[in-house]
Amino acid sequence: DGLRVPQLLDQGTCYTYDDIIFHPGYINFAADEVKLGTNVTKNIAIRTPIVSSPMDTVTESNMAIAMAKLGGIGFLHYNSKIEEQVFHARCVKKHRADFLTDPLILQPSSTLFEFDQIRERSKHTFACICEADCIGSKLLGLVTATDHELLKDRSLELGSVMTSVCDLVTAELMEDSESFEKVLIESKKGKLPILNDSGELIAVVTGSTLKKKLINPSPGVPSTDRSGKLLCGAAIGTRESDRERAIALAEAGVDAIILDSSQGDSVYQLEMLQYLKKVIPEVDIIAGNVVTQVQAAHLIKAGADSLRVGMGSGSICTTQEVCAVGRGQATAVFKVANLASKCNIPVIADGGIQNSGHIVKALALGASAVMCGSMFAGTTEAPGEYFFQDGVRLKKYRGMGSLEAMLKGSDSRYLSSSAHLKIAQGVSGTVKDKGSVLRMVPYLTHAVKQGFQDLGANSLEKANILRNSGDMRVETRTNSAQLEGGVHDLHSYSKQLW
Ligand code: XMP
Repeated sequence: DGLRVPQLLDQGTCYTYDDIIFHPGYINFAADEVKLGTNVTKNIAIRTPIVSSPMDTVTESNMAIAMAKLGGIGFLHYNSKIEEQVFHARCVKKHRADFLTDPLILQPSSTLFEFDQIRERSKHTFACICEADCIGSKLLGLVTATDHELLKDRSLELGSVMTSVCDLVTAELMEDSESFEKVLIESKKGKLPILNDSGELIAVVTGSTLKKKLINPSPGVPSTDRSGKLLCGAAIGTRESDRERAIALAEAGVDAIILDSSQGDSVYQLEMLQYLKKVIPEVDIIAGNVVTQVQAAHLIKAGADSLRVGMGSGSICTTQEVCAVGRGQATAVFKVANLASKCNIPVIADGGIQNSGHIVKALALGASAVMCGSMFAGTTEAPGEYFFQDGVRLKKYRGMGSLEAMLKGSDSRYLSSSAHLKIAQGVSGTVKDKGSVLRMVPYLTHAVKQGFQDLGANSLEKANILRNSGDMRVETRTNSAQLEGGVHDLHSYSKQLW
């Protein structure tokens, strides 16, 4: 009944996750007993097989911290200066639960009116006034909501009304929460900016961040390196200048580096891979993206510690339309994983994940982990401010090949050499507020465990055994079978899943 997985996926038609459906297997264990532990690279094991994509609307330090806390790993995007990406890497490596790592940061030229407007649409009660509008820049002062509430002239610049940094109580990194608590209480201020020795803002400690840590300890065992610091990944391009970036990231303690390219089978990537293996052998290198066994074989031979699979399957991708290359993601994952597993190289299924069922399918087809962009865009931890449109609370989500992102520098992903002729391979748009990944991911992982239980696999290894032995059976779904498999015939329903 049904087909063996290779019988279906070796036929010369490529399939997406939605095109296929598995037959149920035999259950002799509880869903809670399913083990999702996996390797994201040859040398890095994680408890949760879900990672966040290196996109500038998905992963900076807040997302990477949350993903590591959840037992996965986040990959910092590189659409920024080397110093900014390194700063985020250091934030992850230095993270402690008692820090507020995403305070509102404004510049001295912003006005009280602008501060009011941001406060109306967010929960911020104070703003750090810094030289640049990002964490890691020099702190100049602080403005709180209550300090200037009665000032009539809202056009005043924050630089002229702020409490200057020399009148603030600040602190450097200290070992334990109690030390911060003591300084905070003694200062009789509600906020304690944490600065490095150059006066740059690292984080802020407030009474509520300390309280939150006590009430809400981290969700399960986090992903950590050998010294107990949170795991952190980062992406780079394959240009000459990215060599310097990779070395700086390695110095900041990054555990894995992604060579980010939409088509990884290139001389640029092979040379970069060989170079990095020589100069930073302590960092695992994830090469890609690939969708065929030929591409995968080249990168494995050059020393890749993991492969990222997917071309044009992402929710914001137009690569298949613009360039006529790519592959249906279910087929791509199966084909590449089939080859890579013979060399013990893990495969990350990147793009096209819309629900927990897609994660089950990717893992059952041989992926060791899935990489999500749109799933995590719009969450509290994703970069960017929320805004309202037609009464809906949204955040921006854009492809790294969208014109908008490329103008900031991400065109190297598409091996673009033209300064004035940019061809977009992605779009920019918006996604709804999804709350925190700290709530979403536990839901997702439990749903994946239930999927594995239905397949009769109590671990990723067991799923591989079932697939290789032919006991895992699969079929394609017609369009009407797909419609039948979704919600239908209701006038309206609630889409809330967690
Ligand atoms: P999802 O479906 O999770 O996909 O939103 C995220 C993945 O899509 C890739 N990516 C792009 N692909 N044009 C593309 O063809 C783009 O502009 C683009 N931006 C991101 C990337 O692999 C990411 O992890």
